[in-house]
Amino acid sequence: MKMWGGRFEGASDERMAEFTRSIDFDYVLASDDIAGSIAHVHGLGRAGLLEADEVEALVAGLQGLKADLEAGALVWDVSLEDIHMNLEVALRAKIGPLAGKVHTGRSRNDQVATDIRLWLRRTLDRLDGSIAEMQGALLGLAERDGDAILPGMTHIQPAQPVLFAHHLLAYVEMLDRDRGRIADCRRRANVCPLGSGALAGAGYPLDREATATELGFDGVTRNSLDGVSDRDFAVEALAAFALCMVHLSRMAEEITWWSNPRIGFVRVADAFSTGSSMMPNKKNPDPAELVRGKSARVIGELTGMLALIKGLPLAYQKDMQDDKPPLFDAASTLDSSLLVMAGLIATMTVNRDAMRAAAGEGHTTATAVADALVRRGVAFRSAHHIVGALVAEADRAGSALDALTDSTIAAALASSDDSIAIALTGDASLPAELREAAALEGAMAGCDVIGGTAPRRVAAALAEAKARLGA
Ligand code: ARG
Repeated sequence: MKMWGGRFEGASDERMAEFTRSIDFDYVLASDDIAGSIAHVHGLGRAGLLEADEVEALVAGLQGLKADLEAGALVWDVSLEDIHMNLEVALRAKIGPLAGKVHTGRSRNDQVATDIRLWLRRTLDRLDGSIAEMQGALLGLAERDGDAILPGMTHIQPAQPVLFAHHLLAYVEMLDRDRGRIADCRRRANVCPLGSGALAGAGYPLDREATATELGFDGVTRNSLDGVSDRDFAVEALAAFALCMVHLSRMAEEITWWSNPRIGFVRVADAFSTGSSMMPNKKNPDPAELVRGKSARVIGELTGMLALIKGLPLAYQKDMQDDKPPLFDAASTLDSSLLVMAGLIATMTVNRDAMRAAAGEGHTTATAVADALVRRGVAFRSAHHIVGALVAEADRAGSALDALTDSTIAAALASSDDSIAIALTGDASLPAELREAAALEGAMAGCDVIGGTAPRRVAAALAEAKARLGA
């Protein structure tokens, strides 16, 4: 049988056939394609287009193909262009010419759009689980070492001390939103294009809604042209994947410099490190670096998909066949990145002493000292000036802010133009109060708002995150 039917006389040019086929990558849609065909055959039966025994034979044949697929017994014929043609021919080999009826009222255009949506739905569900696993690893580390104190940074300069758990929970939040985006995408993608035909709608009275329900879709696409020719759901998925990769990349970047021995906040386990072929001393956090690197690829896949569809007139254009490699690759890249990062995080050791020492460098509690003065009635701007003078004095004396003497504090207050600050020079209890605020624990305790790093707030946030995740 000629592949493209009676209109064609000559055989395909080898170069053309190799160039246009998609079986090399769309074979991953096989199980979705079979599921779609079974539902479509049921629909043809309901519409009176197939006899009951034909439905039975076709469905049995398709179920046989499914079993063959699961047993690894299906072999793809590259001369058959794509997964759809391969499966139709395989069905014919199984049940004979009756297979010729399976494509009634269907085009590969609505077929492939259905397959990708089915594939995407199960892929999104798997990725949601992988993100949850990553969140679980972060929560586990927060439980284990979360009370370590980290130098919180802005501009990569020491800023304010934060609990390590607080830092880890920031990533749990980002990943929560990633899951929300995946859920949103799933909701919009989960509608069935079958029945759209090639572009104008099937030429038979198919009950599209019943077929959609059988396939677990929430509804049907409302316009046949749109149903076969938009891939916005793929763009949405890639956008969610790219952003999640970017979140992982930021975390990976932190881990790479935290594990530099000069910083030494964490040690990546040997199981998640590699060595050098030349330098015997080397131990590198390769998986973290690769996650950072692979985020670039997924970003490229998102922009590639947008570029792929931006110039396409309605309806289906062959360009759209190239939607699959980036979508498949991005999903598996994200999945493996999540799983390797979860493993790396779960096995990483934390050096609390190194973190704590760094957390105190750069007078990171200065803001807390200013806040303590404000609580005594000093205007914030005056407090900022006074504490700035204390920081300069501490630098000159080579001391920490929580080791300043009573007289140094009194001198800084006296040199202020704030009358309340000047009056406070006579308050004997103030210096101890300021020194307490200048200690790491005191400074963190002061950030006592929802979402702040005060230990009691972080403990509540951790408990809340654990409950939310069922961890
Ligand atoms: N392999 C094709 C794809 O992935 C299936 C749809 C082909 N449709 C067509 N009119 N050539 O897009």
